[in-house]
Amino acid sequence: TEVFLNGRAGVDPDYPIAVADLREQARETLDADAEAYLFGGAGREDTMRENRDAFVDYRLVPRMLRDVSDRDLSVSVLDSDLPVPFLLAPIGMQSLFHEDAELATARACADLDVPLVLSSVASETPEDVAEELGDTTGWFQLYWNADPAVTESFLARAEDAGYEALVVTADTPFTGWRERELQQASLPFFDGHGLATYLSDPAFREALDSPPEENEAAAVQHLLDGFSDASRTWSDLADLLDGTDLPALVKGVLRPDDARRAVEAGAEGVIVSNHGGRQVDGEIAALDALPGIADEIGDEATVLFDSGIRGGADALRAIALGADAVLLGRPYVYGLAAGGADGVRSAVENFRADLDLTLGLLGYAAVTELDRDAVVEQ
Ligand code: FNR
Repeated sequence: TEVFLNGRAGVDPDYPIAVADLREQARETLDADAEAYLFGGAGREDTMRENRDAFVDYRLVPRMLRDVSDRDLSVSVLDSDLPVPFLLAPIGMQSLFHEDAELATARACADLDVPLVLSSVASETPEDVAEELGDTTGWFQLYWNADPAVTESFLARAEDAGYEALVVTADTPFTGWRERELQQASLPFFDGHGLATYLSDPAFREALDSPPEENEAAAVQHLLDGFSDASRTWSDLADLLDGTDLPALVKGVLRPDDARRAVEAGAEGVIVSNHGGRQVDGEIAALDALPGIADEIGDEATVLFDSGIRGGADALRAIALGADAVLLGRPYVYGLAAGGADGVRSAVENFRADLDLTLGLLGYAAVTELDRDAVVEQ
């Protein structure tokens, strides 16, 4: 409201407001490798595109003349209160996009009290990012290493550093067929962008023949060999979750029966996601997978959503369709590339302001009041 009553007050004039324009500003700062990594999807990118198109099929149906003078954006997720119904999604290797990398993202999160999910393949260590986050909620995303000692060490570090939940990414036993990335001469790991958590890890270092400072190529190869073990199954997940006190969500679930398996294995719930269309080209748009999963486990477990969220109305549609909260992905990284912490702050503030205004215009005073009545499928 402040935005409209006070002209552009509250809007940072250095950054475009429209996500598409911010994306263009980001593009100007990126080299070809970073651009391919950030903008690319699997195959012909049909699924990446359809993630967006799916939103158009669900139309919001506003209610008039209800008291929306005070709006409550908070939600309760995993037994804790989040001040906004979104977190920043785990996006790896942020030094590709800005030299301050995840420290800039975490600083913006701390300034705005917006929670962050930190990737396993971050360019900064979980400890340094946690320090930057301060009291703001952080969760840790796990790429489940083939070496049990490394995985165990990651979980212990996440707990010790104060991360409050674990996100186990299930859709990436290996990375998808991403043509834009494959076309580039170098892959980001080889330039050292996603190594911080590994190179600072005692268990990872112990498994190397020589210290990574002496032979980084060997360390990278070891990381790639153990990055994720494609033989893992749901029963392994139950064992993994037995080894941590952190509540866990399984990310990348697109089927109700898999959502049920996640809960049976001991997860608190799932993140409905197709990894932003980066894994399987031609798979279901994430939003189309959401209602069935919410019907299956929504009453008893947590359901979050990502893939294609670009504005407030997108978040509210996903929440109306059964998500408890959503994750904002690429848009905040466009902000990071365009201007470090300031750029992330601008992207996230605008997203939050849009969400707040749109909630009120729909006739709701609280995010938690949204239900399927607020949308129709066209
Ligand atoms: C990702 N994503 C991701 N997910 C994850 O669990 N661990 C990771 O390290 C990464 N890294 C990553 C890098 C980049 C460049 C992108 C674009 C995405 C997936 C991410 O968490 C989220 O699912 C998607 O970004 C959602 O799609 P949109 O809304 O960003 O298009």
